[in-house]
Order: sequence, then C-alpha cells, then structure tokens
Amino acid sequence: MAILEFLPSKEINLSGVLIYLAETQEGQNLISTFLTQEEINFIGSQFKKGIEVVEIHTPHKTIFILSSLNAESNDDIVEKYRRKGAALCHRLTALKHTSVTIFKENSADTLLAFTEGIVLANYQFLKYKSGTKNSLTKLFVSSELNLTDKVAELTILLDAVYKTRDLVNEPVLFLTAEQLSKEIETIGKEAGFSTEIFNKSKIQSLKMGGLLAVNEGSPNPPTFTILEYKPKNPINKNPIVLVGKGVVYDTGGLSLKPTEHSMDMMKCDMAGAAAVAGAFYAVAKNNLPIHLIGLIPATENRPGGNAITPGDIITMHNGKTVEVLNTDAEGRLILADALSYAKKYDPELVIDLATLTGSAARAIGKEAIVFMGTADETTKKEFTKAGFETFERLVEFPLWEDYDQYIQSDIADLKNIGGNEAGAITAGKFMQHFTSYPWLHLDIAGGAFMTSPFHYWVKGGTGLGVKLLYNFLKNKINQ
Ligand code: BES
Ligand code: ZN
Ligand code: ZN
Repeated sequence: MAILEFLPSKEINLSGVLIYLAETQEGQNLISTFLTQEEINFIGSQFKKGIEVVEIHTPHKTIFILSSLNAESNDDIVEKYRRKGAALCHRLTALKHTSVTIFKENSADTLLAFTEGIVLANYQFLKYKSGTKNSLTKLFVSSELNLTDKVAELTILLDAVYKTRDLVNEPVLFLTAEQLSKEIETIGKEAGFSTEIFNKSKIQSLKMGGLLAVNEGSPNPPTFTILEYKPKNPINKNPIVLVGKGVVYDTGGLSLKPTEHSMDMMKCDMAGAAAVAGAFYAVAKNNLPIHLIGLIPATENRPGGNAITPGDIITMHNGKTVEVLNTDAEGRLILADALSYAKKYDPELVIDLATLTGSAARAIGKEAIVFMGTADETTKKEFTKAGFETFERLVEFPLWEDYDQYIQSDIADLKNIGGNEAGAITAGKFMQHFTSYPWLHLDIAGGAFMTSPFHYWVKGGTGLGVKLLYNFLKNKINQ
C-alpha cells in the first residue's frame, strides 16, 4: 500500500507534487504560500467555468488544485471527495508521480476521504503478474489541523481493505478452505486477534451437517475458523459475532451454474469471510475496545465425488432437517451452521456477511447492500447510518412471516430454495430459522467483486463491508 504520513503544513516541500483541496468553489482564500497571485486569478477563472481540477506544471512545481465539492448531504460530499481522489490517482499514475502531498487547510473529513479514494484506487493485485506496478508509493496528508492519529487509523483501515481484496482475488487453486484459514491466522497474528481452526473431523463431531454436505463434492476438506478479539476493557458485556460466508469457489455443485459467465467470478464467494477478517484486522490493530467473535465456515462447492444431490435431506448443526433442492443455494447451508453455533456465545448481536444471492445483486446492483434481520430498530438505524457514512449503503428488505411458506418442505423441516420470486428474502428467511438472538444479515453479492472499475473500486475484489463494519463498531464507542 502507498505509505501514508501526516505532515504539518509548514513542512510541505514546495518543489514536490502538491494536491491542494480548496475550501471554496470560486478560488477565494487560496493560500499564496503555494501560488502566485496570477495563478490564483487563473484558478478562480477556471473554477468559475466549472472546471473542478486545475493543473499547474512548471519546472519548479506541480500543483493540482481541486475546487471545493458540494452535494446535498455531508455523506454525499465526502463520497465525492473519495471519487475525485480515485480520478486524481489515475492522473498521477499516468504522470508517473511517486510521492504526493495532499493539503487541505482545515477540514479533516474531506481531506481524509480524498486520500482514501486515492489509496483505494491505487490498489493492485500483482502476486501473479510482474512489471506493472503503479508509480505512487508515498502520500503525505497535510493540514493546519493535527491529523496524526486520524491518518494512522485510516492507514490501518485501508490496509484492512487491501488484505480483504487480496483474499478475494486469490483463485481457489491457491486459496482452498484450509489456506483461507491459514491466511486469517496470519492476519490475526499481525493485528492481535486469536484464531482457532476446526478441521473436518472436528466439524463432523460438531455435526455441522450444512457445511459437511456442501463439502461432499470437493476433494479438499472444509474448515471452520473462529476469530476472537478481546480487549482489556470492552464496552460490550456480551460479544458481537461476525459471520462470513467462506465458499472459496462456487461451481453450483451438481446444480452446476449454467450460463457462460455465471461462474467466472465465483472465486469471490468468500468475500463475506474476507470482509470479516478485514474488519477484525482494522478493529484489533486500532485497539477498539469491543469484544468480537468471528465465525467462518469455509469450503468449495463442487459437483465431484459424493456431491449432495437435489432431493437429498441433511441434518444441520441445530438438528433441523433441510431438503436440498438446489445445490447452488449452498451459502445459506454453511451459514446456518455458523449461526446456530453462534448461540453459545450469548451474543449481543450477530452480523453475517455473504455473497448470498444473485437476486440481491439484481435488485440493487453494486450500489448497495441488501440487509435484513431481527435486530432492534436502533441498531438498524445505526447500521444504516454507518452505511451512508462509508458509502457502503444499506437497503432493508422485509422478513415478513408470509415468506416462510416459500421454504416449507413436504418432507423436511425446511427446503433450501424458495420460488422464482424474492430470492434474497427467502435466503434470509432460511437463515432466520437458525438464529435466536438479535441478528443482521448482509447480502453483499452486488458489490463484492467488480468486472470493470468503478470509482475507487478497481476490477476484482472491492473489500465491501470492511469500512462499514469498522465504522459501525467505532460509532458504538462514542455513544
Ligand atoms: N454465490 C452465489 C450468489 C452470487 C451470485 C454471488 C452472483 C455473487 C454474484 C450463490 O451461492 C448462489 O448461487 N445463489 C443462487 C441461489 C438460487 C439457486 C436459489 C442464486 O442467487 O442464483
Ligand atoms: Zn451457489
Ligand atoms: Zn455461493
């Protein structure tokens, strides 16, 4: 990751590359330390024409001046800065700049958001490709305010997003369930949270019938990883549990994914698990005083060997039976086991993240996360607020009783698919049967993985969910 460092404004090196975020839209109040009066007048005239970024290149200095950005809400303004940061990142890369100072006089949120946009857009997954590294490696964040702590916190959070993206981008040839568990263990050692990895025989002894059933068609064994971050004086008496879908590859199983491109990106089906690991990294490394447990059921979903068949009936960890009518609806099976396992922690709240349904993606696109759950309205409001603040926005779907009939089976307690309609909801409804505590379910299928770049999301894993979870948990501390 490009190295971030806070720099007091008086230490700015005027011969380096500077991005100057103006406090006004018309170029008033630009500081003459960096600019001549003639340049200030020129910038003002460009801003008035509606040009948002003015570039000044001389043999002695390079300055990009960004007009102040406006929108209806503060959250929208902040997002505009992130997106503008991404756009500038592409320009800086094209110009092969290596080190840049970003200065804004006295408003922290927009300066940090802009920096975030640059860093996120600068991400590359280069493990399997050589010789194409982006030029930008160092970013100084500068202000009249002292932002040392905020820059340090942001660095950790963005590092967490990078780690999450790395995991999502890894193909299954490397990232089997066992490897995913090992990677999470490594992340835990670096950040300061513990991990315990259950192997197949332990999973069998726990009778996690959903996870074992999905794993039947795969040559590689499943894992169940437990993460714990327990600081000295946590604000919560009972832990908050984060559950992540860890399907390291989803072929659909015997209900093989049908169309030409439907399987191409299915290495991303562990994006929920990766987001949980990323959130743990950010929380633990920033020492937030919150007791967290993480549960990650992981396996491939493949059609080989003993693969479960449509029509099979399986018995889940909590003893309920499920008629499996479509083996491609596998996420809910492994999550259901994790959700019933979560009960033993007597949790204050359980949040699961999963690339669960194409239905959620079709309903809302990459623009938002579909969520539903039984947590109280205050928690849902706090969560929605964190969604707008991080621009990992949330839209609630209902869990009305009416939908229960969709997943009634004639010969088992439940079936694992509903009808053609309300697919995201029936998946949620299914999982609700395995919860017995305040619960939120996040279907991140729409935004977990990009097939083309979108602002600060580059192609591939996005890290969706990490900033959202971190922000939600951090806001709790200040309540
Ligand atoms: N992993 C997929 C969902 C998915 C789709 C994630 C697109 C990311 C992008 C999930 O396991 C799945 O296959 N769901 C099925 C459920 C159906 C068979 C009831 C779906 O949504 O089509
Ligand atoms: Zn599937
Ligand atoms: Zn899946």
